[in-house]
Amino acid sequence: MRDITLGGMAKFVDPGVLFDFSSLRRSPDVEAPNLFAFDATDKLILTEAAPSLEERDGGTVAVVGDRYGALTLPVVSVPGSWDVRVHQDLMAGERALDRNAAERSLSGRFRRFPLGKELFDGAGVVLWQLPRSLAELAETADQIARYARPDVKVFAGGRIKHMSMAMNAVLQDSFGDVHAGLARQKSRVLTAATPIRPTAEPAFPERLYHSELGLWVCAYGAAFSGPRLDIGTRYLLEFIDRMKADARHAIDLGCGSGVIAAVLANARPQITVTATDQSAAAVASAAATAEANGLSARISTVQDDAMAGFPTGSAELILLNPPFHLGATVHAGAAVRLFDAAARVLAGGGELWTVYNNHLHYRAQLEERVGPTTVQGQNAKFTVALSIRS
Ligand SMILES: C[S@@+](CC[C@H](N)C(=O)[O-])C[C@H]1O[C@@H](n2cnc3c(N)ncnc32)[C@H](O)[C@@H]1O
Repeated sequence: MRDITLGGMAKFVDPGVLFDFSSLRRSPDVEAPNLFAFDATDKLILTEAAPSLEERDGGTVAVVGDRYGALTLPVVSVPGSWDVRVHQDLMAGERALDRNAAERSLSGRFRRFPLGKELFDGAGVVLWQLPRSLAELAETADQIARYARPDVKVFAGGRIKHMSMAMNAVLQDSFGDVHAGLARQKSRVLTAATPIRPTAEPAFPERLYHSELGLWVCAYGAAFSGPRLDIGTRYLLEFIDRMKADARHAIDLGCGSGVIAAVLANARPQITVTATDQSAAAVASAAATAEANGLSARISTVQDDAMAGFPTGSAELILLNPPFHLGATVHAGAAVRLFDAAARVLAGGGELWTVYNNHLHYRAQLEERVGPTTVQGQNAKFTVALSIRS
C-alpha cells in the first residue's frame, strides 16, 4: 500500500474525502439545476468501503451502477493499485464517466465490462449504487455471489427513500451476511459478505408468455417493466394497424424488453425493426425477445443514447413510450430528448407514434419539435399521439 502521509503519520485516506465531487458533470445526460452528478450515497459508500479498499490494495474492485463517475473516479484518483472494473447500464452514464475521467487525466485507470463473470471474477470489493428494481438487484447479487472471491465485501448504497426491507431480503438470497449501516444525509449502505454460490443457472433473462399477444417477452433485471406489459405500452399497441402502412422499416425507440418491436414485426411480415435503447440490459432483453419469437432476422438491436448514431432524415416510422425518469428523478427532459432525436432521425412525412400519461400534455412539445401532431386516442390514463415530420 502506498500510503498518504498526513502530519507525519502514514494513513490511507478515504477516497471520497479528497475528491472534488462538485466538478463532476452529467453531460451528455440531461443537466439541470435540480439534477446532480453525485449524492451523499456515493460518499457514504466510499467511506464505508475505505478500510476494505486499504486492506485489499492490489486486488480487484468492481464498481456497479456508478452514474457519472462519483464512485469510480475517487478510487482511481487515490494512490493504490487496484484493478478497477466498471459496469454501467446506461450509455449516457458511460460517456459522462469517460468525459469526467478525461478531464482529470484518469482515463485508462479502469476497465469496463458487461454484467457477468469478467466483471466480478476475483473481485474482493464491490462498490454498488443500489438499483431501484428488485429484479436488477437480484440479478446483480446473483452474479457477484457466483463469481467474486469468497471473502468479497459488497458496499451497496442508496437513498433511504428508495430503499426497502425487501432489498435486504433479496441480498440475503445471495449472501450469508447482510448488514444495514447507519443512515447519513438520507443515505444508507447495506454491507454484504459471505456469498452463497448459486448452483442453478441464472434466472435472467426472465421469460413470460403473453397469450393476448401470442408472444414471449424476455427481460434482464434492469429492463423497464421486466417481461410484463406496461399499461401505456398495451394502449399504444392497439394502434399498430393505423401506423404508416407502407413503412418497410421502423424503430422501437427506448425499446426496453423489445415488446413493441416484436408485436410490430409479428403483425407485419414484410417489416424490419431496429430496437434501440441506451440501457445495455434493455438491448440484451430486446435481442432475447426477438430470438424467443423467431424474429431475430427482422429485428436488430442497437445500444445508443437517443439514436445519436442514426442517420438524419432516414426513418419512416418510430414508436415511442418515453421515459419519465432521469435516474430517480421524475423529469420531462428525458422524454423531450427523445422527441428531438425522433425529429432529427425521421424523414419528411415519417411518423412518430407516442404514448404518454394524460397529465403530461406532450402534444404541444411534439408539435413544436417534430411536426403536426394529432391525438389518435385517449383512455382514462393515456394518450396516443401521431406526429408527422414536417
Ligand atoms: C417507458 S420505457 C419503455 C420501454 C419499452 N418500449 C416498453 O414499452 O415497455 C422507456 C425506455 O426508454 C429508454 N431510454 C431512456 N432514455 C433514453 C435515451 N436517451 N436513449 C435511448 N433510450 C432511452 C429507457 O431505458 C427505457 O427502456
